[in-house]
Amino acid sequence: MNILVTGGAGYIGSVLNEELVAQGHRVVVIDNLARGHRAAVVPEAVFIQADLGNREALEDVFKRHRVDAVMHLAADTSVEYSMTAPGRFFQNNVACGLNLLECMVNYGVEKLVFSSSAAVYGEPAELPVTEAAPLRPVNAYGESKLMFERVLPWYSEAHGLRSISLRYFNVAGASGCFGSDHNPETNLIPIVIRVAAGQAESIPVFGTDYDTGDGTCVRDYIHVLDIARAHVLALDRLEENAGNSTYNLGSGVGCSVMEVIEAARKVTGSAIPVKVCPRRSGDPAVLVAGSKLAELELGWKPRYPELESIIGSAWQWQQEHPEGYGDDYETSTPAVRTQERRQGVSRQ
Ligand code: UFG
Repeated sequence: MNILVTGGAGYIGSVLNEELVAQGHRVVVIDNLARGHRAAVVPEAVFIQADLGNREALEDVFKRHRVDAVMHLAADTSVEYSMTAPGRFFQNNVACGLNLLECMVNYGVEKLVFSSSAAVYGEPAELPVTEAAPLRPVNAYGESKLMFERVLPWYSEAHGLRSISLRYFNVAGASGCFGSDHNPETNLIPIVIRVAAGQAESIPVFGTDYDTGDGTCVRDYIHVLDIARAHVLALDRLEENAGNSTYNLGSGVGCSVMEVIEAARKVTGSAIPVKVCPRRSGDPAVLVAGSKLAELELGWKPRYPELESIIGSAWQWQQEHPEGYGDDYETSTPAVRTQERRQGVSRQ
């Protein structure tokens, strides 16, 4: 199949492309490289540098490549940043996504796998969180993902577009070749790894006064390889004509921030100093997935659920790529840099 992967130069996209190519698919990547890296795209994929906000460029992609299905990963993803620049999240995660849907309709593409997030649930009342839980995001990032999810059934009704939304919990780890290289980095495990590698002094722990076992936030960490495989299974499901479903993707096991740090100490043999900081805005206390539906309907079950193996793969990737992909800030476009300066985003 010809599969268009939006955001395919990003962390999860890079691993997904690898998996799709291994399954025999032809992959076309579109990415504006605001956060992604050209070097993160497998050589077998066609790469197009363009923004989903550029309707003309997007139309051109559909015109040139006979797209059979779309995997839509392109998004702004930092929960923290979404609390200070919500407009950017609604623009990139909702408005740009609508461009994509319109192109799909114009070119008769009917299969979509959408990268959604556990952030759509907000602060869940019951754990583990099932897909039936109330949708009450507590940050603009989660709201933007939910808005796009809600658009999809309407496209199905009007245009026959079938979609599966995958609500990722906390994705971490690396494949052999591809890993997480964000600048700035805001996710816990990659920052912990940087501290272990001596690239940062200490790990800030945002809040030790939550109503959890050790007072730090609890999350459900899931290996990026398992996430990539779920996309392939979702595509199989769409092939069977199913559509407009939503699945949680998590391991079902909650780990606190301190437990992550402790596991990383074990894996890396490094002391990993901690700095206790105030709570970070927009953080729910606990998020743990119930992923039974994905198991039942997609046949998906995490193959690498252990926290230490997730952290171990991230650590190995860091050791082999101490500078990440080796490109940096200078590779982002001047427009993105200007926008970020205005919004007060600082890059480390
Ligand atoms: N944290 C720290 N110190 C850090 C970074 C994070 O203490 O330096 C804490 C956060 O406060 C939070 C936990 O570690 O309690 C996890 O934070 P992450 O930033 O790694 O992940 P989030 O849970 O905020 O968000 C991630 C993804 C989102 C996704 C969400 C779903 O980044 O895209 O998981 O659970 F929506």
